[in-house]
Amino acid sequence: MERTLKGNGPLYPVLGLASCVTFLYMSFGDLIYYSQEPAQNNFVSKSGTQLMLRGKAFYVNGWNSYWLMDQAVEDYSRPRVRAMLQSGAKMGLTVCRTWAFNDGAYNALQISPGQFDERVFKGLDYVIAEARQHGIKLILSLVNNLQPFGGKTQYVTWASEQGYGLSSSNDSFFYDPSIRNNFKTYIMTMLTRKNTITGIEYRDDPTIFAWELMNEPHCMTDPSGNILQHWIAEMASFVKSIDKNHLLTVGLEGFYGPSNPEKLSANPGDWASSLGSDFIRNSNISNIDFASVHIYVDQWILDQELEEKLKFVRKWMHSHIDDSGKILKKPVLFTEFGLSNKNKDFDPSHRDRFYKTVFDVIYESAKKNGAGAGGLAWQFMVEGMEEYSDDYGIVPWEIPSLYKLITEQSCKLKVV
Ligand SMILES: *[C@@H]1O[C@H](CO)[C@@H](O)[C@H](O)[C@H]1NC(C)=O
Ligand SMILES: *[C@@H]1O[C@H](CO)[C@@H](O)[C@H](O)[C@H]1NC(C)=O
Repeated sequence: MERTLKGNGPLYPVLGLASCVTFLYMSFGDLIYYSQEPAQNNFVSKSGTQLMLRGKAFYVNGWNSYWLMDQAVEDYSRPRVRAMLQSGAKMGLTVCRTWAFNDGAYNALQISPGQFDERVFKGLDYVIAEARQHGIKLILSLVNNLQPFGGKTQYVTWASEQGYGLSSSNDSFFYDPSIRNNFKTYIMTMLTRKNTITGIEYRDDPTIFAWELMNEPHCMTDPSGNILQHWIAEMASFVKSIDKNHLLTVGLEGFYGPSNPEKLSANPGDWASSLGSDFIRNSNISNIDFASVHIYVDQWILDQELEEKLKFVRKWMHSHIDDSGKILKKPVLFTEFGLSNKNKDFDPSHRDRFYKTVFDVIYESAKKNGAGAGGLAWQFMVEGMEEYSDDYGIVPWEIPSLYKLITEQSCKLKVV
């Protein structure tokens, strides 16, 4: 089988859009992508407002499957990991974002502070090794703000159970020095983990696209934003002290905060500025390499017609692309976007329109060498995973119209 059909390899630019789409449709799901180049050339880097891979601007069409490590632990579910990564590659997707944490929940990776279940770590090793085989790069998120898979609340519970927690507030995750140290132990263990399948330390593995500090950080007990800002700066510099190979992002939804009052009108509502997160200030930290933004218009704006919602989506994206280009001077990745199938009046065509809107803004930015570096859909599954759906989950090949949009976007971004 052809061995050079790599995402950004030499073939796509020659093919052009129509034949790229045809090629992806026809290609076998079991293509195995190898790169002969030295590892150093395969890290994603950044130059100004562009992501770079092998000397060229790199635009991301990617997806989220938060469940990869979880499903890799047990024999019966492990094949889903390969099936998902293989199908992603077949759609021309290049980046998958997933959880590199499970704190104290079922099949926990971290059983208690600094104590890891080797069986689960081997599951993550498998996820990374499989991603490498399929030419997919991973964004690995390090902790959850929310409670699924433990999150900050689990760190706080551990501290109080073990008698050193300063406060029972789940936001003490951000300011309690002992808990901050526990999280640093987690970071250190993760970044220096030696993959039992590939033999490569995670910090040296170009399969990893970037680290993400936290999924959707909020610190509502401090609306000034100072506590979260301090936490991000401290953790970002800690990550960089261990790993200079990889890019780092925060994991924000992109809400504007008090540091830039003139931006507040771009928020979906007044509530968004009082969560303790602050898009511009947080993303401006020098150790943060690119900005991250989520798009959940159906949760943020209720009781409006689809057209109004799509108008908001365009404005939200343009606003963040502009800020990233002009103020932050960094790339911005839309790391989660999705439309729930539980909305009242939901129709699958709404989801197609929503995806198309997001894709078009990204493509327009890419054509102009703008700061919009790509997007990751929330979220994809394989068949038989209904309980992982969270109303946003889809099996893309079961929805032909959407599958086509996704594949076309992959091709368009490969030939910009
Ligand atoms: C944090 O604690 C507050 C107050 O107890 C609670 O309402 C909230 O749901 C918790 N948040 C998370 C993400 O656990
Ligand atoms: C961003 O950080 C730089 C220093 O790294 C600072 O000069 C600039 O004022 C900051 N901008 C904002 C909007 O916070």
